Amino acid sequence: MILQDEHVSSVATVASSELRYRRLFESAQDGILILDFESGKIVDANPFIAKLIGYACNELLGKELWEIGFIVDKELARKAYEELQSKNYIRYEDLPLQHKKGQIIDVEFVSNVYDVGREKVIQCSIRDVSERKFLAQSVARSELRYRSLFENAQNGIMILDFMSGKIVDANPFILDLLGFSAHELCGKELWEIGSILDKEFALQAFEALQKKNYIRYENLPLRKKYGQLIDVEFIGSVYDVGGEKVIQCDIRDISNQKKLVLYQNLAISNMEDLVNALVAMSEARDPYTAGHQQRVSELSVAIAKELHYSEANLEGLRMSTMLHDIGKFAIPAEILTKPTELTEDEVGLLRSHVVEGYKILKLIHFPWPVAQTVLQHHERLDGSGYPNGLKGDSISDEARIIAVADTVEALTSSRPYRSAVGLDIALKNIQEESDRLFDPKIVAVCLRLFKEKKFRFSPSGLKVSYTVENVRKSL
Ligand SMILES: [Fe+2]
Ligand SMILES: [Fe+2]
Repeated sequence: MILQDEHVSSVATVASSELRYRRLFESAQDGILILDFESGKIVDANPFIAKLIGYACNELLGKELWEIGFIVDKELARKAYEELQSKNYIRYEDLPLQHKKGQIIDVEFVSNVYDVGREKVIQCSIRDVSERKFLAQSVARSELRYRSLFENAQNGIMILDFMSGKIVDANPFILDLLGFSAHELCGKELWEIGSILDKEFALQAFEALQKKNYIRYENLPLRKKYGQLIDVEFIGSVYDVGGEKVIQCDIRDISNQKKLVLYQNLAISNMEDLVNALVAMSEARDPYTAGHQQRVSELSVAIAKELHYSEANLEGLRMSTMLHDIGKFAIPAEILTKPTELTEDEVGLLRSHVVEGYKILKLIHFPWPVAQTVLQHHERLDGSGYPNGLKGDSISDEARIIAVADTVEALTSSRPYRSAVGLDIALKNIQEESDRLFDPKIVAVCLRLFKEKKFRFSPSGLKVSYTVENVRKSL
């Protein structure tokens, strides 16, 4: 009775184990094939492998592996089978299988020989590694792309070890820039190669980089292998590469850029000297209008700011206004200082100052149309101005601003032949002539400046020399 019970229990255990195995087999997320050891014929195939290669299970059963067509290299399969019979184990990391519809699937293929009772069976475990392989290839491609960028970059790149600061890699550009070979740089600390002038500073910078993950120096001097100094922009950034921290240093040679700024500053200083010399020359001939150009300039620039001129255009207008009456150098002094009314001929001569100014200024290469602005500053909207009787939009914006500012300044200053009229009368004059002689938008801004924003001219006789305020920003 007891024996019978034990037998029943043992049968139940086997049945339960068989069921567990069956469930695992059916639901496995890897392909499993069971082959007969002697013949190599498939005796069982799980749903995963059937689906992976596109066959129904019954299409596989009773067939040899190389008979079905999903093994791409049949000869290799036959040899592998023989090897498996002798060694009881084979493994292919990357074996191509062919789906029933033709596409290739890469699998990891592991076969083991097991003893089941007295019989030997072969179990093949098949794992789809297409995605893993694709990812690995993507990583390799990306690595290749990065390498190519690194090798061909037109900036210096150095990779440093995060902990030690030792140079791990340096691209050809930085090797060429500093004059070292890769062998001379790699494995050394950055401050050890002698390129960084201040070693103490470099050590502190390295510590800061380790803490903040980023440092940037706009203008850092580096020494080349044979002593020559160059200026660079130096950016150090910490990156996480597969859980490991590395430092990338991007180094840009700014020596040429610095030279360019130096030349620009020199050119600007020369321009300032030139403008001041021209202003001094014109005002020396006409003491009554000393400071006139300066004051017209102040008002013109204030109007242009209200009209949201760019920094560059403001500077152009400032220069044009500072020189707008320069042509007076060609007018006889007795006409400029004549205390009585001018004759028609004398008026004609005085008016020629715009053309004389233009002739001088067009010889100088200013970055703005200074000569044209000066030529047009006595043109009026209705065509009644001189020298060309231009109308409306044919007159440049800058010349239209000067027309208003010049009129207000002239009326509020004394002349040899008349005393100054008050500011109220001057403003009334431009208001009355708005839209006929003057641009109404500019007149409106000018009136607002005086009435609401309390704009006032600097006192007459105040000497202000021309300095470039905005050119450096605008170049
Ligand atoms: Fe003028
Ligand atoms: Fe003027």
